[in-house]
Parts: sequence; C-alpha cells; structure tokens
Amino acid sequence: MLSCAGVPIKATGSRSSPINDKINVNKILGIESSCDETGIALYDTDAGLLAHKLHSQVERHRAYGGVVPELASRDHLRYLLPLIQQTLDQADLPLQAVDGVAYTAGPGLAGALLVGAASAKALAWALGVPAMGVHHLEGHLLSPMLDQTLELPCLCLLVSGGHTQLIEVRALGEYHNLGQSLDDAVGESFDKIALLLGLDYPGGSALEQLAQTATGGHYQFPLPMTDRPGCDMSFSGLKTHTITTYRKAPPEHRAEIAHAFQHAVIETLLIKTWRALQETGLQRLVISGGVSANRQLRRRFTQYFTEKGVELIFPTMEFCTDNGAMIALVGAIRLANGEREQLEINVRPRWPLENLCKIAQAGK
Ligand code: KG4
Ligand code: ZN
Repeated sequence: MLSCAGVPIKATGSRSSPINDKINVNKILGIESSCDETGIALYDTDAGLLAHKLHSQVERHRAYGGVVPELASRDHLRYLLPLIQQTLDQADLPLQAVDGVAYTAGPGLAGALLVGAASAKALAWALGVPAMGVHHLEGHLLSPMLDQTLELPCLCLLVSGGHTQLIEVRALGEYHNLGQSLDDAVGESFDKIALLLGLDYPGGSALEQLAQTATGGHYQFPLPMTDRPGCDMSFSGLKTHTITTYRKAPPEHRAEIAHAFQHAVIETLLIKTWRALQETGLQRLVISGGVSANRQLRRRFTQYFTEKGVELIFPTMEFCTDNGAMIALVGAIRLANGEREQLEINVRPRWPLENLCKIAQAGK
C-alpha cells in the first residue's frame, strides 16, 4: 500500500473497501465545500467539463462581515444534493453515469469540509465507485487546465481569501513553497479594507470597482517587505497604514484610498513574483485563486511580465474563485494516477501542499 501524508492510498482493485473496485474512471463528480461556496461539477476525462453549478453563501454571511463556520456547514448541507441533481440535469446524465467522486478534503473549515466529504463517500459507496479527497489549493493551482494546456514546470502565484503563496510547480503533485504571507492573505486584506470603506462582504471585487473611479495619485502606500530578501510577504502593516490614512482623509478620498491600497498590493506581489522567477529560472507563471479575478492585477502582471518574456496563464474568470470544476479535474488526474482512498471520512483543515504525492501519469 502506498502512503502519502499519512493518508493511505491503495493500489487499484483493492478488495478491502467497497468503493475501490472501479478501474477505469471516466466521469467524475466534483464537490467543493471548503468555505462559503458549494460547488458541484461533472468532468469527463475525454470531453472535459460537462456541467457545473455553484451556490454562493455570500448573502448568508454578509451581516456578519465574514464567514460564520456553523452557518456555512448548514448551507452546504442544504444545497449540496439539489446542486448535484441540477448538475446532472444540465449534463443530461443519470447519477449512475458517475464513476468517480472527488471532494475537497482540505484545507478549509472543518465542518464545511465534513459535509462535502461525508456526502462524497456515501455517494461513492452507494454507486460502487472510488472517491478521492482533493487539496483545495491544488485545485486552484491546476484550474487553468480546465480549458487550457498547462506546461510544467511553472511558478504559481496563488492569491485567495485564505492563502497567499508563491509555489514552484516542478511537476504535477510536486510543489515547493518559495514564500507566503506571514499574516493576512491578500483576499482577506481586500475584504477587510473593503469593509472599512463601507463596501459589502466579500469586498475584493467591489474594492476593485471603487479603485477604478479614482482620479489621481493622491496617496503612495508602502510596499511591505519588498526591501527584505526572499519571497515571504506581509499585508497586515499595509492594512493598518490604510486604516490610519482613511481615518485622517476627507470623505471624497475613498476611491483614492482604495486605489492606493490595491496598487500597493499589486506592486508588492509583482516584486515578490519576479524575485521567485529569478530564483528558480522559471519562464512560465500561473496566477490563480480568487484575487486572480482582479482585472487591474491581470493588466499589470501581463504588461510587466510579457516584456520580460514570461508566459502568463490565468484561469478563466469563473474558475478563479472557488468551484467544483477544479476539484473534479484534480480528482480525475489523481484517480487516473491509480490513487484510491479508504471508506473512512477524513478531512484536513490544515494540509501543507508540499505533502502531496507526485503524480506519475496525468489524466487528460
Ligand atoms: O479562491 P477564493 O474564492 O476563496 C478562497 O479559497 O479563499 O477567493 C476569495 C477571495 C475573497 O477574499 C475575494 O474578495 C477575493 O477572492 N476576490 C477579489 C476579486 N474577486 C474575488 N479580490 C480582488 N479583486 C477581485 N476582483
Ligand atoms: Zn479557494
């Protein structure tokens, strides 16, 4: 038996678990429930993505200014099965067509993860097909593969609500962390500053829109930790600086402050990413996670790195934020790699990306 990160992985065809007996896995149902989006998708290893559905809990959590874990679990429970049915209906396929189930096993909120994991394992057991626990960040990282060719090795800048990391992708499943935020994640900082500016949670996209209306260069915010060597980052000091500046500024400077904050974040990410590319000698850059939907970030990175001859890859807009399609895709790749799980329900709220197994042969 193989073992990866303490999680037993059985060779294809093991008889000890009733969900291990399927060898050719073609249509994979993906279930994402790590935080506040219930994402379901059906992925075909030959035809690609067949259908996907998303239920966002934004409205449920808005009054609290952030995700309330218990409410998130309950909403996943409420929406997961109807969304699976809607996804199958969209693909015009019966449940019996599913021959593998992938779910987000971590990192994320324990209760929310458990809803997805328990549903996935129960479904897989009932259908007699394998289930595969997927690392949420591997989903973000490989999300461009949903509709583009992704050649490896590459560098990945992963910027989401919970993570900010620079990852050297040496091969599928072989990830090396080059640097990360030592405090707030970039998406989290966007959300906190958006709240300060009176925008609704989650405010990343609204802050970007407000910043667009700024007329001009009133503020120059510091670029945190760029004067220090290495690829680690920090955004909590920039957040404090933004709060202090906002409290002293006239009300009509709201957009200017949003612009200065966003500019400082993007320039900091740019400097650290360039450093990581120089350190590794890599010429290919993937930018994924919720914040990669930021159009100004896309514009600035494209302009800066195209001049330097770096190939830039972004996921399609709808797959930047959490979704079931990226989970189904990674599940398909790992199931094709011969990985199989036991029937026990294990989630990993904390799960270092570097503990994953290298993938010998990728699925299509
Ligand atoms: O990847 P994601 O959906 O969830 C996590 O895995 O965390 O990322 C959500 C984060 C939120 O913080 C949200 O405000 C941010 O991505 N985000 C944006 C934009 N769209 C989403 N941040 C900046 N600009 C955007 N356009
Ligand atoms: Zn995410």
